[in-house]
Amino acid sequence: MTELLPSRARIFVAGHRGLVGSAVARRLTADGHTVLTRPRTELDLRDAAATAGYLRQTRPDAVVLAAARVGGIMANATYPVQFLEDNLRIQLSVVAGAHEAGVPRLLFLGSSCIYPRLAPQPIREDALLTGPLEPTNEAYALAKIAGIVQVQSYRRQYGAGYISAMPTNLYGPGDNFDLATSHVLPALIRRFHEAARDGLPELVLWGSGTPRREFLHVDDLADACALLLRRYDGDEPVNVGCGEDLTIRELAETVREVVGYRGAIGWDTTKPDGTPRKLLDVSRLQSLGWRPRIALREGIAAVYEEWRSQQEAAPVA
Ligand SMILES: NC(=O)c1ccc[n+]([C@@H]2O[C@H](COP(=O)([O-])OP(=O)(O)OC[C@H]3O[C@@H](n4cnc5c(N)ncnc54)[C@H](OP(=O)(O)O)[C@@H]3O)[C@@H](O)[C@H]2O)c1
Repeated sequence: MTELLPSRARIFVAGHRGLVGSAVARRLTADGHTVLTRPRTELDLRDAAATAGYLRQTRPDAVVLAAARVGGIMANATYPVQFLEDNLRIQLSVVAGAHEAGVPRLLFLGSSCIYPRLAPQPIREDALLTGPLEPTNEAYALAKIAGIVQVQSYRRQYGAGYISAMPTNLYGPGDNFDLATSHVLPALIRRFHEAARDGLPELVLWGSGTPRREFLHVDDLADACALLLRRYDGDEPVNVGCGEDLTIRELAETVREVVGYRGAIGWDTTKPDGTPRKLLDVSRLQSLGWRPRIALREGIAAVYEEWRSQQEAAPVA
């Protein structure tokens, strides 16, 4: 099969300190590539001139665009201007800068949350732009959709080898455990841990527990990104997920067992559930021979162990 990346490539990972960027940087380094990074304090990727200058100066073989302004429902509702504009500006700087510097390969990270709110399940890549978006993150989703179209446009107009991936919900090392802004999985880990520590008889969770969601370890995503950089050169984005979902109730039971909480789980059904099901159709990625390696329970246990040892080293109030 044709390899689209040199075996010892120089790759700029934008957003290398984030959940996705750090996993991609670890993986590409392990594969023998040289990963180029720049802290935000030295290179604000919203600055198009500075980003173009950096890319001209370094001329990497590839760019992975994992830098973005991301956040939960509250942050999206409070700062829609920044979610729209920061992401548009980062994408304009990095993708246009890469093209101008003659970078032959670029991988842009989209997200499953930019598909239409009522997309048929499992969600295929061609569902993009076929219906109304989830209103709570519309500004963010529109910016990311613009990024997908930008990448496709560079392919169509200039023949650039630029591609996009659409990851499902991710978790992994360095996840955000701040309950005000975290995603469901780290939030469950923290809440069960604290309930066990405090000896609570019951932990009450939001909603009915019946919605179905898919989760992928970020090291599996990084593995898929490495494969896509090497092998995929298509116009359509590629969904990256494990291809299986579970109910929030099943997820909560798994986290409870991993953490060792013995109390009961209650469900506050007055709280909203969100969309009943969100699962990606991963047949395009599977046709490239890709399969995830990290089982959910094993991945949760590893993340919990890491977080717990960090807590013991430096307890958070
Ligand atoms: N996490 C998920 O479940 C998930 C799922 C699907 C898709 N994705 C996609 O994956 C991508 C990365 O997400 P993530 O979860 O890794 O986010 P993250 O942990 O918040 O990381 C984002 C990174 O972007 C950097 N960044 C933001 N604005 C910047 C700027 N102006 N200049 C330079 N760097 C900047 C941040 O730098 P600092 O470290 O300095 O803040 C951070 O390193 C996003 O496009 C997201 O849509 C994530």
